[in-house]
Amino acid sequence: MVPRMYRSLVFPILSTLEPERAHGLALKSLRAAQATPGGLAILRAFAGPVDPRLEVRAFGLTFPNPLGAAAGLDKNADAVAALMALGFGCVEVGTVTPRPQPGNDRPRVWRLPEARALLNALGFPSTGAGAVKKRLAGKRFKGILGVNLGKNKATDAERAPEDYAAVFDALKDEMHYAVVNVSSPNTPGLRNLQSRRALLDILAAVDAVNRSLAKPRPVLVKLAPDLDDAQLDEALAGALEGGAAGLVISNTTLDRSSLKNPFPERPGGLSGAPLRDKALAMLKKVRSRVGKRLPLVGVGGIATAEDAIARMKAGASLVQLYTSFVYGGPGLPGQIVRGICEHVVKEKLKSVEDLVGAGD
Ligand SMILES: Cc1cc2nc3c(=O)[nH]c(=O)nc-3n(C[C@H](O)[C@H](O)[C@H](O)COP(=O)(O)O)c2cc1C
Repeated sequence: MVPRMYRSLVFPILSTLEPERAHGLALKSLRAAQATPGGLAILRAFAGPVDPRLEVRAFGLTFPNPLGAAAGLDKNADAVAALMALGFGCVEVGTVTPRPQPGNDRPRVWRLPEARALLNALGFPSTGAGAVKKRLAGKRFKGILGVNLGKNKATDAERAPEDYAAVFDALKDEMHYAVVNVSSPNTPGLRNLQSRRALLDILAAVDAVNRSLAKPRPVLVKLAPDLDDAQLDEALAGALEGGAAGLVISNTTLDRSSLKNPFPERPGGLSGAPLRDKALAMLKKVRSRVGKRLPLVGVGGIATAEDAIARMKAGASLVQLYTSFVYGGPGLPGQIVRGICEHVVKEKLKSVEDLVGAGD
């Protein structure tokens, strides 16, 4: 009902605006709602059910449901409480860089409505770790808060570990978990950090800070869907040997072959429906290589409860989305969580966790 109204009424208005402005406006509205007495209660009317059968235990944390807001949706932690009120069990803020930076020149985000997709070449615009810390300090949320760690564009590859460790250090008290993002296509050289050696160095630098905590945080690694088999083996070796707590599969793709019009003049990564099969295939491949050693977070083209369930059956303990939220609106997370819950009830499962790897 709400998604239909969003699609017929709100999206047509938002889509007259330049995509980044529309996204900024949507975040501003959510921020205003969470700052208004009673605002979160109104947003909660959109959310799906709260049910212990939807809880997922992964890397030492308990998620209220398996659906998360993917990195990039709330880069600077402006609307965490509001997004959780809409039904996301988890919000992964970021990518956060150590120092503020503007990102690439505009335009740098494009909608492809017929394909239910986005192209983005943002390049980590970030208010910086200090500002994000101020925004999050002292706040307690109903769901799980992840922080996606990145490096500044000006930092060269050799010093990248220091950047990841600096963001982790700044936000360690605010986060439940961290994700080392080495897979965005819009920061030159970033994807080279998916090599075994580079990942070991980054994870060691983050771990040096993490070890000093009374309760160390789980640190995951987010990979690109465009790795060939040899590169994937490298990345998995780095993640496993470096002590990663899990993997996020996957970031956006540089492969436009599934698009009727591939817009070669526009740079950036592709997300949304055209990424779905590729991200699912990548998840299956990773699952077949790491088995149950590392929990997996499935992301890429998830737009329905069926998509989420398929990703979990393929081995994802948790799922995330971004692009379908742009097209589906504020009712979408609730609709997906409701659909997952109905499936759990219909199949008489004790827990949604029973779905994880059910397709093995
Ligand atoms: C506009 C935009 C910005 C993004 N920014 C980030 C980011 O800062 N860090 C990151 O790890 N992923 C980022 N992503 C990737 C998403 O987290 C996700 O991995 C990808 O979009 C696939 O999911 P989807 O098809 O549900 O959008 C971004 C995606 C989009 C569309």
